[in-house]
Amino acid sequence: MTTDSSIGQECSLTEQVMALEQQYLLQNYSRYPLVVRRGKGCYVYDAAGKRYLDLIAGIGVNALGHAHPRILRVLREQAALMIHCSNLYYHEYQGKLARKLSEASGLARSFFCNSGTEAMEAALKMARAHGRRISPEKYEIISLDNSFHGRTLGALSITGQAKYRQDFEPLLPGVRFVERNNVPALEEAFNERTCAVVLEWIQGEGGIYPLTAEYARRARELADQYNALLVFDEIQCGVGRPGKYFAYQLAEPPVLPDVVVAAKPLACGLPLGAVIANEKAASAIGPGMHGTTFGGGPLACRVALEFFEILDDLLLHIHHVGGCFRHELAELARHFSFVKEVRGYGLMIGMELDIPGKQIVLDGMAQGLLFNCTHDTVLRFLPPYIITEPEIDRAVRILKNLLKKV
Ligand SMILES: Cc1ncc(COP(=O)(O)O)c(C=O)c1O
Repeated sequence: MTTDSSIGQECSLTEQVMALEQQYLLQNYSRYPLVVRRGKGCYVYDAAGKRYLDLIAGIGVNALGHAHPRILRVLREQAALMIHCSNLYYHEYQGKLARKLSEASGLARSFFCNSGTEAMEAALKMARAHGRRISPEKYEIISLDNSFHGRTLGALSITGQAKYRQDFEPLLPGVRFVERNNVPALEEAFNERTCAVVLEWIQGEGGIYPLTAEYARRARELADQYNALLVFDEIQCGVGRPGKYFAYQLAEPPVLPDVVVAAKPLACGLPLGAVIANEKAASAIGPGMHGTTFGGGPLACRVALEFFEILDDLLLHIHHVGGCFRHELAELARHFSFVKEVRGYGLMIGMELDIPGKQIVLDGMAQGLLFNCTHDTVLRFLPPYIITEPEIDRAVRILKNLLKKV
């Protein structure tokens, strides 16, 4: 039998950590060979003390980077007062956070949970309940090819990538997948049985593909025409990342959904998801129809409130540095024929290659730069919102060397 001490003597810490995981964890992740230990600002440090510039930020979660002093202060203060109280009782921060989300989104009411996929489940239940009030036949959901909405069975059912769904079928019935930005296909998919259409304004996992405003506007019209809910999944693309509170506010005028689903950056690393709905959608969920033990606890909600106070003053910065980053990447792209396109908004940026990107990601790690690759060929950058221009310049210099080596 292998014991801690017998593994430990001759292996490095990284090898020990990996060996232990390989023995005791489900084999669902294929992690990069890096053991991270601490973070400060836009940098993380591995077990040996090596520093990495973090352009992936916990897949878009660490919005204020690592160890932000204001977040730490609130965390310490609130942890000493109360971490959890369940939803049996009130605490001071849920209502305040819901008011802030309402102001930021233009919608009315929030429900809090612990992750993106849970938020999507709640939105799906809202859509189903909305449809059922009208007719038991009104349960169909329209979603996009290439979308990603989470790993629970409901969210998976509307995820438009067969590779995620195929091992778990049969999933929810009545889901129609349509091509992104194809208006006639969307018109064709709508019917009286449609209870909702769910769209990522910018597909994240799918490779940083934005919707056109025209498409989103037509989805709004069709949802109204068929009394279906328009649901935007802004788990990855929302809450400041596009340089607006929500990506649907990029359109002029904004295309207001009935429901927006948010999570990743909301509580700067603490698990927190939210469904924010207008009165019509929210009224589909009555007492006892949905709930959670952990969701919306005082610690996560108070941290999220502090985050929003900081975010209010960061939106312009995100817009500005995101523009610089995109511009520098586009310049870089001109020198490498295997770079097909650079796209995105704010600090959600993809660089599409016509070769696999995994080795570039691994080489980046060796050079002290963290980012990832989605859809095999799209280098994805979701840096912390506090990233500075000099840090972006540094990242682009490293990237240039990485691309030169290809
Ligand atoms: C658009 C989108 N929806 C849903 C999810 C699922 O969120 P979570 O992993 O927190 O469950 C993700 C996660 O990457 C996402 O990007």
